[in-house]
Amino acid sequence: MKECEKLKIGQLIKEYRKKRDMTQETLSIISGVSLSSIEKIESGVTKELSDSSLKKLSNALGHNFILEKDFEPNGFTAMGLFCGAGGLDFGFKKAGFDIVYSNDVMQAAEETYKYNIGDIEIKDFRDVDKTKLPYADVVLAGIPCQPFSNAGSRKGINDLRGQLFEEVIKTVDIIKPKIVLFENVRGFLSSKDENGLTMPERIRKELDNHGYRLYYKLLNASDYNVPQNRYRVVMIGVRNDIAGDFEFPEPIEDKSKLTIGATLNKPLPTDEQVEVWKLSPQSQDLIQHIPEGGSWKNVEYDLLPDRLKRIRDNMKRYHAPNFYRRFSREEIMGTVTAAGTPENSGIVHPVENRRYSVREIARFQSFPDEFKFLGPSVQQKYKLIGNAVPVNLGFSLGKALREFLNGK
Ligand SMILES: C[S@@+](CC[C@H](N)C(=O)[O-])C[C@H]1O[C@@H](n2cnc3c(N)ncnc32)[C@H](O)[C@@H]1O
Repeated sequence: MKECEKLKIGQLIKEYRKKRDMTQETLSIISGVSLSSIEKIESGVTKELSDSSLKKLSNALGHNFILEKDFEPNGFTAMGLFCGAGGLDFGFKKAGFDIVYSNDVMQAAEETYKYNIGDIEIKDFRDVDKTKLPYADVVLAGIPCQPFSNAGSRKGINDLRGQLFEEVIKTVDIIKPKIVLFENVRGFLSSKDENGLTMPERIRKELDNHGYRLYYKLLNASDYNVPQNRYRVVMIGVRNDIAGDFEFPEPIEDKSKLTIGATLNKPLPTDEQVEVWKLSPQSQDLIQHIPEGGSWKNVEYDLLPDRLKRIRDNMKRYHAPNFYRRFSREEIMGTVTAAGTPENSGIVHPVENRRYSVREIARFQSFPDEFKFLGPSVQQKYKLIGNAVPVNLGFSLGKALREFLNGK
């Protein structure tokens, strides 16, 4: 561990203690960590605390210091808009970016984001006064995907959420970051605005008007060390005075460690209660008849509920949907969704008759086991996780941008 990283943890602890108006003595009593350890880490005399001490301090101060102990600041700042639980933001933090402002409208995101990443403003971003925002080198804009998703209505930019783009452009115009990053679903590539421009064309035009140039690419998260096949469009706007061509990170070659079997085959955190969102009684009955690697197509006709019988009766008309996909342990997981429904996502465990647990789907999104999901109901946790940009994809993009901004 380098000097600056170690010092950072002590400084962070001090910062959080002061924010909570706590003396070192009080923190020692509340956390059970000795006063001398707290004094030493805060002053930089001790460079490292044990994980168990860091855990105690995390519990006492409501912030996850364990996650941060290996981070090396890179000198750049980032802002997380539409940050949700913070998959993208956490990836950037891991790549050394200091997150200076974050926002989401979803109350359920607050506790998880605060504990693992830092402060977050819960407010509709349209109501945020952009002139009061701090400067950030990179603006991360994981705008909601529903208007562009193939499954949705594809109203695109005309949709209210599509208009959130305009809010990001407004922000860019005011704070003039070096980089603005948009992430969205594949349908975004073909979604059109009111003038018939595809979304990438529209964004290119908007950014061009504001002095930015655009690079974009369709990426598969599993190419970036995420145990999940998840296709997302990443668009990078670069301020025109920043020289060079941005290059997207290179895909990894060996995906053998990304299978479902490899992802599940690690002990679950011992200090964590296993949380599983129960299936409906109908789905629970159905999955008993689906073998590992199969789907509803393996279920005998007579065992199907009426609505599925109707589809089975006319598979051509319904395009032979692959409902209730139950991936095998040898496969890479399919796209984790916010809805977490067994019909449309491979959310059923390969060999146990249940949904994947919160921790298991978090692993498919490459959240480390130390990242805790707090507060809301179990459904909200599935939603926050399913909505996230996989951490390792965020990390790869963060690293590539750090190198780009450093002129490497
Ligand atoms: C695709 S998710 C973002 C995921 C996030 N980037 C991550 O990596 O975890 C989109 C987010 O936009 C938020 N959102 C939707 N409308 C919003 C609004 N008007 N203002 C602020 N946030 C909003 C949603 O609550 C949701 O968390």
